[in-house]
Amino acid sequence: MSEVSLLKQALRSVVAGQVTAARDPYRPGWHLAPPVGLLNDPNGFVQHNGRYHLFYQWNPLACAHGAKFWGHWSSADLLHWRHEPLALAPAQEYESHGCYSGSAVVDNGQLTLIYTGNVKYPDGSRTAFQCLARENERGEFDKTGPVLDLPAGYTGHVRDPKVWQHDGQWHMVLGAQDLSLQGKVLLLRSADLLAWETLGEIAGSGLNGLGEFGYMWECPDLFSITGSDVLICCPQGLAAQSDRYLNTFQSGYFVGQLDYATGQFSHGDFHELDLGFEFYAPQTTPTDDGRRLLIGWMGIPDGDEFYQPTIEQGWLHIMTCPRELTLENGKIIQRPARELQRLRGEEQVWQGIAQDAPVWDITRAEVTIGTEQPFSADLGGNMTLAWDGEWLRLMRKNRRSGEPEQRIWRGALRHLTLLCDSSSVEIFINDGDAVMSSRYFPALPARLTFSGDGQIALRHWSLTDCV
Ligand code: FRU
Repeated sequence: MSEVSLLKQALRSVVAGQVTAARDPYRPGWHLAPPVGLLNDPNGFVQHNGRYHLFYQWNPLACAHGAKFWGHWSSADLLHWRHEPLALAPAQEYESHGCYSGSAVVDNGQLTLIYTGNVKYPDGSRTAFQCLARENERGEFDKTGPVLDLPAGYTGHVRDPKVWQHDGQWHMVLGAQDLSLQGKVLLLRSADLLAWETLGEIAGSGLNGLGEFGYMWECPDLFSITGSDVLICCPQGLAAQSDRYLNTFQSGYFVGQLDYATGQFSHGDFHELDLGFEFYAPQTTPTDDGRRLLIGWMGIPDGDEFYQPTIEQGWLHIMTCPRELTLENGKIIQRPARELQRLRGEEQVWQGIAQDAPVWDITRAEVTIGTEQPFSADLGGNMTLAWDGEWLRLMRKNRRSGEPEQRIWRGALRHLTLLCDSSSVEIFINDGDAVMSSRYFPALPARLTFSGDGQIALRHWSLTDCV
């Protein structure tokens, strides 16, 4: 289909559905959600000329995975986002089954997108091209087309380019599946973003002392922080263990050192980035003031996503809040971006026995809980958070099966921050030591009710809408 007819179709879908979607009480007040249709991965997260840009995998035509477009928001402050015109539509032959995930860089002052053109064939096989598009004076993106074909030795699953500059050269990591169906991350180099030289596999299943570690690694991201190099990736095919890898697909990181001359990446163990029910495909960007920010998709591409009630209102999925990353004692610490504090209204504080705590409205709220003692908190919508002195458990009923399910963290609990937004909760444990992100659908207004006889200290702020 031509670019123009695809854009017209998308526009018609937005015009027809956006009022219904906007009226949905489960729509977030301060998280990013698609006007209509399905959102998945954050793409092209970058700060350029003082504005943040966040692109995203978007099917504006249906609440289904299908031909993916790139939606686009921009913001001066990470809080108030403007929905920009559609950036990419899958109109060309080399992207016929989706403008898949990728990243953005600023090249000679020009915002430049590097993404995967995904092509599926009638026999079920597929191929992938890594493609370029550059912003023009009208804010549209002109496609250069493919700059890299499928490298030899890999299946058609080679995608999600993340590009950055190091020592005056462009570098790219790509998620890949080799011909033995092992997930890998490839490193490439280029002087001009157009001609790419493959330096090899820097990590993957069976490499660097890792055993079998998944059949495909998606959405890699590599950056340096406090003297180390961190590789984020999303391995698919890890078997669930009693206390980890509990979601269908994982998202985590390795800390190590990348030797840019040899393309060797020596790294430690894989750590999950988020222990909640919904989190995948995060992307990071450096900021002008020296921070490293991360935004993830608060979703997972498993069948459960299609049991979310917002589909009846014509939209599906949200992004996580922006998080600031630091590396402390070899571990990634994630804290809500400091800008979010500007959404806080008046503060309420309370201290005492959990079961005596006031019942607060958490429809759009930040709540902190200081305690080492057992308590349980009902968030509404069958979602419960319970600390028993050893395990923190986030429990709900699976929307598809109705069966109870839980996500867990073990450690010495001191402090929790809950960020709530109508149909989501992000729980920051011990000031960013671990995070649990999840969607849930409480009766609104959502109420937080404590039980148990442990001592707790609470702070509560309502958060102002900003999107
Ligand atoms: C991850 C992912 C990427 C792909 C995109 C397609 O969620 O599968 O690997 O580029 O989504 O929407």
